[in-house]
Amino acid sequence: TPGTKQSESSDYEPSLPVTEKSNPLTRDIDRASPSGIVGMLEACDAQMFQRETGTNYQRLFDDQVVTTLTEVAKRVELILKDPQDSLVVLSGCGTSGRLAFFISRFNEALKQLNRTLVYSYIIAGGDRALLSSQEAPEDDPELGMLSLQKVCEGKKRVLFIGVSCGLSAPFVAGQLDFCLQHPEVYTPVLLGFNPTHQARDEPIPGCTFTFRSVAQRLQELAQRRKAFLINPAVGPEAISGSSRMKGGSATKIVLEVVFLLYINKGIAASKKTSCLLHSGILQHMREYERAVEMTYQHREGIAALVENEGGVCYLGWGPMAFLGLMDASECNPTFGAGERKKRWRGFIRGGYKDLNNNEGPLSSLGPDFCIAHEDFLHQVLPSLTDRDTVLLIYTQSDDLHEVVNLGRKVREKTSNIHAVHHRTDSVEALLNKLCIFDTFWQWELSTKLVLNAVSTGAHILKGKIYRNHMIDLQVTNSKLYRRAARLLQKLSGQAETECEGALLKAIYRADKLTEEITSCDITAHTQVARSAKKVVPLALVSLLTAHCVVALAPSVCECVRARGNGPCDYKALWVLNRTIQVSATSTSTISSNAC
Ligand code: F6P
Repeated sequence: TPGTKQSESSDYEPSLPVTEKSNPLTRDIDRASPSGIVGMLEACDAQMFQRETGTNYQRLFDDQVVTTLTEVAKRVELILKDPQDSLVVLSGCGTSGRLAFFISRFNEALKQLNRTLVYSYIIAGGDRALLSSQEAPEDDPELGMLSLQKVCEGKKRVLFIGVSCGLSAPFVAGQLDFCLQHPEVYTPVLLGFNPTHQARDEPIPGCTFTFRSVAQRLQELAQRRKAFLINPAVGPEAISGSSRMKGGSATKIVLEVVFLLYINKGIAASKKTSCLLHSGILQHMREYERAVEMTYQHREGIAALVENEGGVCYLGWGPMAFLGLMDASECNPTFGAGERKKRWRGFIRGGYKDLNNNEGPLSSLGPDFCIAHEDFLHQVLPSLTDRDTVLLIYTQSDDLHEVVNLGRKVREKTSNIHAVHHRTDSVEALLNKLCIFDTFWQWELSTKLVLNAVSTGAHILKGKIYRNHMIDLQVTNSKLYRRAARLLQKLSGQAETECEGALLKAIYRADKLTEEITSCDITAHTQVARSAKKVVPLALVSLLTAHCVVALAPSVCECVRARGNGPCDYKALWVLNRTIQVSATSTSTISSNAC
């Protein structure tokens, strides 16, 4: 694919790691039709499975990657053989943490096989982060280390799998560093989608290590198989930096192909040779690839869902329901959809009983944490209108009477009701329960892709995306702060210091940068940014309008038009016009200038 070759060539956005680059395939996604959007997402997702790309990046199907997965599988086997004092811990931030939780449900499969449960998860910010954006804990390596210690108390053997798609989260770096200091107990595995030399090298306050230095230490130990690094490139995200998409999907694929080896045929897999494990992994990966292809065969159906006007509710049954909760929770940080948060909601049939999370019910945290179908009936259904969309998510294993009953109630309020439904007609699958079980993981991936496409596509149509960048991203941790500053540079064409200055002014709603502001560190900036709205759009407007005659220009667009042939980008301004909606009560000088 030309897109892959281009984005992986060393002179394409050379200062950025793969996971932060903008994907050439989606450069015009903001101007595409719904069907066009889904088509571009399909092309992007296909990059996950590309074999030969003619570049130096490792890919999913590369021998080296599959061999590492085989080695990790053997470590999992050791834990399964001696489960009493052992644990497999999956950990990550944001979507990576949500997937750590989701994949730790392999315990359910162990339960069915009457085996001791060995999987455990950690998500930065605790269980509330499963359902809402908690970006700040991502920057805290000590918190990462302490939560790992807590989960592993008393264990003699731990396989720790830290997921950071961008090889960037200090929370995960702290955990990996801790593992490296205690090799007698911990075997660390790092999963991400950048080559090691592109791991984040920014100093972490209070630490002697950076993410990159930790990754390099792991790489050295990997030669002696005392640590493992799984970091194939899967190509840049469709929306730049949005690792919830391909990063999340690839995380699910990579971990499941390993864990599945010991589920399908039970522990008999322990008799498998490396060669058989290797081919088992390849076979599973091909099945996931096929699942992705089959999903996009429903391109027009998915495109129809993208065109939604009002709110969207995902009503799910079984484990699949969590994918709805996850997708809805991601809309807020990804698209700056905070003020519309209530408009993307996910619900799971039995609420927290079905979710089965570490910390139990969280409903006391507020309405956004009320996740049962009952909560939907009380909180949402009464005010549902024809503008709202409801998506039922279920499989043949769920109680269809229940699905129909709930569907009827929804139907009385809106005709905009759709379903993502999975079933199989395969005789083998119907006769053999384990075979359905095997298919289930691919159904999940397929559902994730559909929901990601629906929410991403809808926000594109709402004007939240410019080219393939999110404009109104929240600046709530150091990675997002850096991303925001880079975006400002790219869109305004102005110097780094000017852009960072504009960003700070927008965060602090200040006309001038005072000593008090500039003497603070990024952690302090991001804390303030947590309660500031429209930070990046405001900063961008201030950069774009800095030199024009504001007094003569009644609107942002005219203001920039007044600049003549400067590096102004009208499309960007159109997006801004729709995004900012500066209110008369705004206290910001920047925003009133923009008005
Ligand atoms: O900081 C926000 C975020 O980008 C989330 O959107 C993402 O899921 C999370 O960070 C984790 O990123 P990574 O897996 O690269 O550490």
